[in-house]
Amino acid sequence: MNNFEFKNPTKIIFGKDTIKKIESEIPANAKVLMLYGGGSIKKNGIYEQVTKALSNFNVIEFGGIPANPEYDILMKALKVIKDEKISYLLAVGGGSVIDGTKFLSAAAVYEGDTPWDILTKNVRTQKGMPFGTVLTLPATGSEMNSGAVITRAETKEKLAMGGPGLFPEFSVLDPQVITSIPERQLVNGITDAFTHVLEQYMTYPIEASLQDRFAESIMQTLIEVAPKVIKDPTDYKPAADFMWSCTMALNGLIQKGVPGDWAVHMMGHELTALFGIDHARTLAIVAPSHYKYNFEAKKEKLAQYGERVWNITEGSVDDKAYAAIEKTEAFFQELGIDTKLSDYTKEYEGTAEEIAKRFTHRGWKLGERQALMPEDAEKIVKMAY
Ligand code: NZQ
Ligand code: ZN
Repeated sequence: MNNFEFKNPTKIIFGKDTIKKIESEIPANAKVLMLYGGGSIKKNGIYEQVTKALSNFNVIEFGGIPANPEYDILMKALKVIKDEKISYLLAVGGGSVIDGTKFLSAAAVYEGDTPWDILTKNVRTQKGMPFGTVLTLPATGSEMNSGAVITRAETKEKLAMGGPGLFPEFSVLDPQVITSIPERQLVNGITDAFTHVLEQYMTYPIEASLQDRFAESIMQTLIEVAPKVIKDPTDYKPAADFMWSCTMALNGLIQKGVPGDWAVHMMGHELTALFGIDHARTLAIVAPSHYKYNFEAKKEKLAQYGERVWNITEGSVDDKAYAAIEKTEAFFQELGIDTKLSDYTKEYEGTAEEIAKRFTHRGWKLGERQALMPEDAEKIVKMAY
């Protein structure tokens, strides 16, 4: 096991009818900016619950943060923060609203001229404007981590940012919120969380038995609850397992002491930036090709995953590893998620070369050994056409 330090300061408030508890989490004298997305919260009762809990606070609202939070729109929110002297942010939404709020938390205290530099220059925020979240969509883990991904339509870019000062102070996780989530977003959430675990697990053996077992149990739980939450999102028990699994998949715990890959996400982000494909779907496109392309380097963990998560007991290490990739792709497809780029766009020619060009420009070497070069990414994306 590698050496590590672990600190996660986010307070989780989990369970039925817990949204009202935000009242005691936000400082009484705060001037609050409540941020939300395209309006789903106004149809499912979450908006009423939040505004009721905030009735004794000085609150301004900013709605309209789109899926894949857009820089230009966030800059409008930043103006509100400055003009209105906001002191506390409250994100009410999924990963996009929470990530947008993290960007604002960083931008509100940023002293440079152009907040976009936070993304391009990888500025690590040590202390941002304080914020909390009410999670409405289990998927990204953003509610308990310090990372964010921001999109800029103008330049077709999607870049990551973060820093120890960007953990939410608290996050409310009421599994009842999933009742209104459309099936497309539910299966996205399952796929995204599942791939988060894969990114932190599918590397090389490092003798971190507990981290492996944590990771495998999250994947097993997601596989077990997936059909149940899709069939009946009002069923509280699987909803609760689903929500907590998504948070645990990316709150830092399973990453400690082990190598991380994250190349699937980096290639996936480009597919969202270029074609607007849902984040989770880009992962389902890239992951099977990535694991086939890097088969030799990853086959021991692939075989272990095949045995422990998919009960593949027959054959050699290579056989089990290969079957595990097939099982993973079939899992995504059973959720109704297409796993080839050509299923989403007919304009895919040249995509692999464009992604390799961008990675070269950024000087990126990816993967758990920083050995995945732009030309490798090009081949992997081509395999995913
Ligand atoms: O905008 P509204 O109207 O709220 O609708 C949203 C949106 O259309 C809807 N939705 C959310 N909660 C709902 C609901 N509809 C009905 N009932 C509810 N309770 O779902 C749609 C998608 O929302 P979004 O927030 O975009 O989804 P998700 O949580 O999957 O977030 C995706 C974003 O997070 C980033 C992705 O790149 C993407 O930009 N990620 C963030 C990460 C992080 N910070 O750690 C890691 C991830 O790997 C990922 O990159
Ligand atoms: Zn993701």
